[in-house]
Amino acid sequence: MRPGLVIYLYGDLGAGKTTLVRGLLAALGYLGKVKSPTYTLLEPYRVDELDLRHFDLYRLTGEDEWESAGFRDEFDGARVLLIEWPEKAAGLLPAADINIHLAIGGTGRSATLQSNTETGDQCLKQF
Ligand SMILES: Nc1ncnc2c1ncn2[C@@H]1O[C@H](COP(=O)(O)OP(=O)(O)OP(=O)(O)O)[C@@H](O)[C@H]1O
Ligand SMILES: [Mg+2]
Repeated sequence: MRPGLVIYLYGDLGAGKTTLVRGLLAALGYLGKVKSPTYTLLEPYRVDELDLRHFDLYRLTGEDEWESAGFRDEFDGARVLLIEWPEKAAGLLPAADINIHLAIGGTGRSATLQSNTETGDQCLKQF
């Protein structure tokens, strides 16, 4: 994790996107509760010097809601963005450094990680 990293999380309902974010925050040392941003659309976290924003855009109704919620201001280039259902805000989001695709496989999950940028490459190389 580094400031400004943008991660899109793809996968069907129940594929494990929120669970992955929980694991990631726990791995960073976050001790608090991690709620799914199902209705709030956004939950903020701070771990040491790292500012993170966890979005679940499944219920986003469109650009008007996006603008009135002030989500554009969340993209300051320093915050880590973890975005579930990025396809619901196509054209409104900053580009992803990393795409993660999750799929249900029996009782487990499979994950495909793909980097689009130099920053994303560096992150995945250390994974
Ligand atoms: N890696 C995993 N192995 C087994 N079960 C998992 C795994 N990841 C998630 N689950 C289970 O799948 C269920 C749904 O997970 P989760 O809420 O993370 O999905 P989601 O992709 O965020 O769904 P939504 O699109 O509705 O937000 C939970 O009950 C969770 O415990
Ligand atoms: Mg979720």
